[in-house]
Amino acid sequence: MFVKALLLTCCLSFLGLDVGLAQEGKSYPADMADRVQACTPCHGQEGRGTNDPYFPRLAGKPAGYLYNQLEAFKSGRRKYPPMNYLLAFLTDDYLRQIADYFADQHPALPGPPATDASKSVLEHGQALVTQGDLDRAIPACVSCHGGPLTGQSPGIPGLLGLRASYISAQLGGWRYGTRTANAPDCMQLVAGRLTEDDVRAVAAYLAGQPLPTDPVPAPAGSFALPFACGSQPDGGHKP
Ligand code: HEC
Ligand code: HEC
Repeated sequence: MFVKALLLTCCLSFLGLDVGLAQEGKSYPADMADRVQACTPCHGQEGRGTNDPYFPRLAGKPAGYLYNQLEAFKSGRRKYPPMNYLLAFLTDDYLRQIADYFADQHPALPGPPATDASKSVLEHGQALVTQGDLDRAIPACVSCHGGPLTGQSPGIPGLLGLRASYISAQLGGWRYGTRTANAPDCMQLVAGRLTEDDVRAVAAYLAGQPLPTDPVPAPAGSFALPFACGSQPDGGHKP
């Protein structure tokens, strides 16, 4: 608890709200890397992630997606107390700059960790990710997250380069209501149809896939979603 309090004190002073010099052609101040040092104990340098399997990478995720998450933590719609406190006093503009900064970082990322999941679990995960399960009205994850699973700008994140425990925690968050997104919250609908076994299988399969050489999200509207998501306004959803 003491460490947490210390961390938050350090972080709030670090994130000073004064506006620095804008970097040429960039939508965030030139000294943004210094300002977000407060985030590095948990998210790593340039947001590349750490060894802690529960602390997610931020680098290279779509800017709109990152902004939606910062806004969700600030408003308490997504719950993780250290993040909720840290963002409570930051302005909307500043959250956008932070999101733009991390979306712009492309550090080299480590390959997937070894998995102890069985072949049948991995095959079940692969089937859900690539084909879904029509009988249970589960859409294929690739239908929104994209064939190469790199997401779609501005609001749909890629699903590779995440650890299994983080992925299952997020799907659990949607199933139990501690993580919500802008309405219509399509991920709540998807996660609500998954069993515990499904969650374990998709998490193990996804975490075991190597990142593609070009992990950049597909352009906005480049493919239609099977149904609407509030996080992806005009998200290419064609009824
Ligand atoms: C004490 C550790 C800690 C600190 C410090 C911290 N974070 Fe986080 N952050 C987390 C954890 C853990 C999660 C995942 C929470 C969850 O399960 O929903 C997270 C989630 C996020 C997400 C959502 C990622 C995604 O893929 O959905 C963003 C964006 C984020 N943090 C940004 C920041 C920024 C910016 C800072 C610095 C201002 C920061 N965090 C500081 C621990 C931290
Ligand atoms: C209808 C479109 C749609 C489908 C289908 C879909 N997703 Fe998503 N997913 C989204 C959107 C939109 C978000 C971002 C939500 C937000 O803003 O928090 C998201 C976010 C996520 C995240 C959070 C990533 C992070 O970095 O925190 C995970 C994990 C995820 N989806 C897993 C899945 C899995 C597994 C499947 C297949 C079983 C799936 N999704 C199918 C639209 C979809």
